[in-house]
Amino acid sequence: MLSRWQTGEVRDVHEDMMRLTLEIVAKTLFDTDIADKSEEVGGYLALGIKFYDQWFRNLALTLLPESAPIPHHLRSRRVIQRLDAIVYDIIRRRKDSGEEKGDLLSMMLEAKYEDGTPISDQQVRDEVMTLFIAGHDTTALALTWTWYLLSQHPEVEAKLVEELQTVLEGREPTFADLPRLRYTDMVVREALRLYPPVWGMARVANTDCEIGGYPIESGNIIILSQWVMHRDSRYFDSPDTFNPNRWADGLAQRLPTYAYFPFGGGPRVCIGKSFAQMEAVLLLATITQKFHLSLVPGQDLTPWPAFTLRPKHGIKMVLNEQRSQNSPVLPTAR
Ligand code: HEM
Repeated sequence: MLSRWQTGEVRDVHEDMMRLTLEIVAKTLFDTDIADKSEEVGGYLALGIKFYDQWFRNLALTLLPESAPIPHHLRSRRVIQRLDAIVYDIIRRRKDSGEEKGDLLSMMLEAKYEDGTPISDQQVRDEVMTLFIAGHDTTALALTWTWYLLSQHPEVEAKLVEELQTVLEGREPTFADLPRLRYTDMVVREALRLYPPVWGMARVANTDCEIGGYPIESGNIIILSQWVMHRDSRYFDSPDTFNPNRWADGLAQRLPTYAYFPFGGGPRVCIGKSFAQMEAVLLLATITQKFHLSLVPGQDLTPWPAFTLRPKHGIKMVLNEQRSQNSPVLPTAR
């Protein structure tokens, strides 16, 4: 991606991050190079998210059976069919090659139920699709909002660049550098606090109970919102301020368990948590070493709480060579 980026160019960083993280997840989990398809897959996934959002916000739609031949369902089905074709192709190629690559895809193809029957292609497809979607959209959003926040806080970016220069001395970062990229890690952590890609999640009570003095009946749906908790002044000083340093002195250990939960928690905690943290820190370090991104003014950046917390119209940014710290920063967009 960086070899394609040109200084002075304006890019939609959300689009670029989506493509990048999709290619990473395909390569790392399924050893599949989908660079030539990432635009197509990205387009279908974006449509899928849009359709899901329309469905979610429209009671009449949610009440209709999936088989009802209405335009919304037909459009959604077409998107799923296109994505299915790509995923089944990945599965078929691996099966035909007979290769055992030791990656997640090989493990899934070899997995068996307790009675010894292999898991079906449909089940493998479901798992691959889940990991494709959960494994790239969220990380892309974490990075997209990080670029936005850095563009508004040159003092944070200067400190970040300083750490990268000290720790890496111009080399590309690797896994072994992670323990020393402490400020980079705090920047990601703080971006996940202010713009949690998963802004809310739900649970159904399986028994009557009481939570915080509120009676809950079995079957009630309880919504937990990262966006709300992460901006609560009971837990975070100046909660709306982007201040990575707040994590420097053990705040994470002092916080009540669910005051900060970008990756959820409990038995269904994000399975990709460590992967995503590592990926985000390494990408932030790699890209910031080379580029300084400034915001194109006049954009509407109101976060859109769809399935995940998204910039509705993308985020357009100008690419500048890094360490042009003195170059003029464009005025703040709303
Ligand atoms: C910054 C990046 C990420 C964020 C903020 C994030 C957030 C979350 C959250 C909040 C949940 C829990 C949802 C719930 O309990 O209702 C979750 C679950 C999940 N995540 Fe992530 N995630 C990220 C990256 C990833 C990656 C990279 C992968 C895969 C490689 C992944 C795969 C999954 C899966 C499979 C689940 C479902 C786990 C289960 O139900 O047992 N996520 N994620």
